[in-house]
Amino acid sequence: MRKLIIFDTTLRDGEQAPGFSMTVEEKVRMAKQLESLGVDVIEAGFAAASKGDFEAVNEVAKEVKESTVCSLARALHSDIERAGEALAPAERKRIHTFIATSPIHMEYKLRMTPDQVLEKAVDAVQFARNFTDDVEFSAEDAVRSEREFLYRVFEAVIAAGAKTINVPDTVGYAVPEEFGQLISDILNNVPNIDKAVISVHCHNDLGLAVANSLTAVKNGAGQVHATVNGIGERAGNAALEEVVMAIKVRKDYFKDVYTDINTKEIYKTSRLLCRLTGSFVQPNKAIVGDNAFAHEAGIHQHGLLAKRETYEIMKAEDVGVPSSKIVLGKHSGRHAFKTRLEELGYKNLSEEEIDKLFAKFKELADKKKEVFDEDIEALLFEELFKSYEEVKLLQFQIVSGNKAIPTATVKLKVDGEEIVSTACGDGPVDSALRAVEKALNVKSKLKDYSIRSLSYGKDAMGEVRLIVLFDDEEVSGKGVSTDVIEASVKAYLDAYNRYKARKAFVEQRIKEGI
Ligand code: KIV
Ligand code: ZN
Repeated sequence: MRKLIIFDTTLRDGEQAPGFSMTVEEKVRMAKQLESLGVDVIEAGFAAASKGDFEAVNEVAKEVKESTVCSLARALHSDIERAGEALAPAERKRIHTFIATSPIHMEYKLRMTPDQVLEKAVDAVQFARNFTDDVEFSAEDAVRSEREFLYRVFEAVIAAGAKTINVPDTVGYAVPEEFGQLISDILNNVPNIDKAVISVHCHNDLGLAVANSLTAVKNGAGQVHATVNGIGERAGNAALEEVVMAIKVRKDYFKDVYTDINTKEIYKTSRLLCRLTGSFVQPNKAIVGDNAFAHEAGIHQHGLLAKRETYEIMKAEDVGVPSSKIVLGKHSGRHAFKTRLEELGYKNLSEEEIDKLFAKFKELADKKKEVFDEDIEALLFEELFKSYEEVKLLQFQIVSGNKAIPTATVKLKVDGEEIVSTACGDGPVDSALRAVEKALNVKSKLKDYSIRSLSYGKDAMGEVRLIVLFDDEEVSGKGVSTDVIEASVKAYLDAYNRYKARKAFVEQRIKEGI
């Protein structure tokens, strides 16, 4: 049997896409979940890109024990040094260095000749070996590179010590048959290829990232780069859950290939990413979408009842979708609440944490009759998974109506002090956010605002997600409540608190001279 190495780049290629940024703590939480999922390699970031990236790679390197932790680095000593430094605490570490090899990238982006690129690639791999034996080299835009040059580069970097050579379809241009042929040609034309694993990194611009990755596997690739929910630059990367489940469900076709992924953790991992980034998958998304296992048509239901396999090729339980939707209410006890948390996959909470959540659950159950799984998850994130909390909303009051002048009064807790402020605006949300701005004495611009219902019914919790500009810096925030104004204020404060936390972090690093 041939084990397919799953290289997860959710926290690097995925996170670098607009709208998917995560704080250091969020990245660590996600990395721990990726470890439970069983990914072989976690690309935790690009250490040299920013202080936040460095910190994230470093923290993930400290926390993750089972998976290899990796940092991206350009083929530059300074980048590689930063990656090596950030990865120092990791039990298993990999440096992933890259340089572009296609004529268009070499001429217009790098302004280098092919020989210079080759020299840089070899030098980068040799230098990275000072920090770890596990070095991966990527020939950026490999798909549009000249074959003979690509073979030459791969041969040279393997000779320099690269253990993995990665073939990125950087612009998502390849089609499956052609991409499979490329992998097979690399196997047949790079003389020392037996000393390295061939990896692929496919973008989804033509919607072919998963198909290309799978064809590459069929043609001998031993590692696939993928992201949870397929997030990533532009149209994203190959979706991890789709690659993994295709290999599992179609073992008759992939025959000797298997992965070490614990597929029962897939759904939870997908949900965690959605919650952390505030970006949800479309209902018809393969494997993890809400409709992926829903059978509405009568003819399907009839077939399913007669024999499940008539319309279902995999079981929802195989990917960890909870088998039943249990609705809790105000009469549900702590035991039922704890059991539901465990069924949703949150098994390692302390008794203290459960007590805190249960108290919040009771408050919520008093406000709305039925408490759904989505509501419980929202509480969990609001109460336990938030890594920063500076300013808190204590109280608010709104006057609004089609003839009234919308006016809001808010009471906030800022650094232990209570501040009350009032403002008028265009509507209840506008006036509430203006009152908050006034209390905090900040100027900001609201760039984006959206609201969605978290569960069912008119009393459902609403989740507000917004993007605010503070000093021209874009910060996202989210808040939930059964009251949409409260959810809006919470989302704004979430963004403000993130902004302050980020600023404090940068100031601290400057003070330390880093
Ligand atoms: O798309 C790409 O080429 C990349 C490389 C850095 C592997 O993300
Ligand atoms: Zn990429």
